[in-house]
Amino acid sequence: MSWSMSEGQARKTCLITGANAGIGKEAAVQIAAAGYHVVLACRSPERGEAALREVRERGRSDAVELMIVDMSLQKSIRRLAATFLATHRTLDVLIHNAAAFDYGQKRRTTTEEGVETIWATNHLGPVLLTTLLLDALKRSEEGRVITVSSKGLLLFPRLGVDLDDPEFERRKWTVSRAYYQSKLAQVIYTYWLAGQLEGTAVSVNCVRVTNVRIDVRRYPELSRLARLAYSIKSLFSISASRMANTYAYLATVPELRGVSGQCFDENNREVRTNRRTYDLEHVRGVMDLTTRYIGEDLQVSAT
Ligand SMILES: NC(=O)c1ccc[n+]([C@@H]2O[C@H](COP(=O)([O-])OP(=O)(O)OC[C@H]3O[C@@H](n4cnc5c(N)ncnc54)[C@H](OP(=O)(O)O)[C@@H]3O)[C@@H](O)[C@H]2O)c1
Repeated sequence: MSWSMSEGQARKTCLITGANAGIGKEAAVQIAAAGYHVVLACRSPERGEAALREVRERGRSDAVELMIVDMSLQKSIRRLAATFLATHRTLDVLIHNAAAFDYGQKRRTTTEEGVETIWATNHLGPVLLTTLLLDALKRSEEGRVITVSSKGLLLFPRLGVDLDDPEFERRKWTVSRAYYQSKLAQVIYTYWLAGQLEGTAVSVNCVRVTNVRIDVRRYPELSRLARLAYSIKSLFSISASRMANTYAYLATVPELRGVSGQCFDENNREVRTNRRTYDLEHVRGVMDLTTRYIGEDLQVSAT
C-alpha cells in the first residue's frame, strides 16, 4: 500500500533502475499511481520505451520518463546522473532495483571497463549512482535511498565479501557466489551510508526480496533443468506486484520519515541480516575496497 499525494502538493521524484521488467516495473506503476514523477532507468531503449507506455497507462500518469543506463558501466552511470541533473534539481527517492542474476550464465564475464560483471552491476553501480545523486537527494525535504537484497542470503549465514578477491580472479566463480556476495555488499553499504548520513534528511534502507516469480523467457540461456526448477519454485513464489508493494511502502509512506539503516521483508517488517553486515571491521574493509573502485570520495558530509 502506498500513500497518494494530496492535491496542490509538489510532485516528488523517484528514480528506479531496472524498471522495464519484474519487480522494478511493478514498483514504478505503484509509485506513479501514488502521484510521484517516476524516472525509469533502463538498459535497453526498446524495452524501456515499452515499459514507459505500460507504466504510464497502468499508473494512470503522464509524469513518467525514461532514461537509459547500463548499471554495469561507470561511464554510463555518470551519463545518467548528468542527464538527470540537467533537468531535475531534487531527487526524493532512489531505488537500486536493477541486478545481474542470470542463472544461465556459465562463465565469469567482465565489463568493457574490466570489472567482473555482477560485482560491477549489483554493488559498484548503485554506490556510484548514489554518490553522484547525493546532493540532489539532500535537496529533498526527505530523500530516500532504497537498496535491494535477497532472502537467499539466509542460506549463507557466514558469508562475507572476499576483500582480497571480490571479482573471483583467483577462486572459483559461480553465478550464485558472485550474486550473493554482491547482495551482501549492498546490505553493508546500506548500513554504512545510513550511518554516514545520520543527522541529514536522507534515509537509506534495504528491501530483502523473497522468492518472486520471474519471466523465464528473459533468460534464454537457462538449461531445461533450471527451467524445471524455476517452474517448481514459482509454485512457492509471490508475484512481482506483491513484492513491489514493499518498494512503494519504503518509497512513499510518511511513517517511515527518519527511519534509516534498516532492512525490510515483503511484509514491510524490519529483519536482521547476515552476521558480517554488523561486523564493523568488515564493513570498513568493504567500504575501503568500494572507494578504491569508485574513485569518488565516498566520505559523505552531513550537510
Ligand atoms: N526474483 C527473485 O526471486 C528475486 C529474489 C531475490 C532478489 N531479487 C532482486 O530483486 C530485484 C529485481 O529482480 P526481478 O525479479 O524483478 O528481476 P528481472 O525481472 O530480471 O528484472 C531485472 C531488471 O534489472 C535490469 N538490469 C539488469 N542488468 C542491468 C544493467 N546492467 N543495467 C541496467 N539494468 C539492468 C533488467 O533489464 P534488462 O531487461 O535490460 O535485462 C531488468 O529490468 C533484483 O535486484 C534482484 O536481485 C529478486
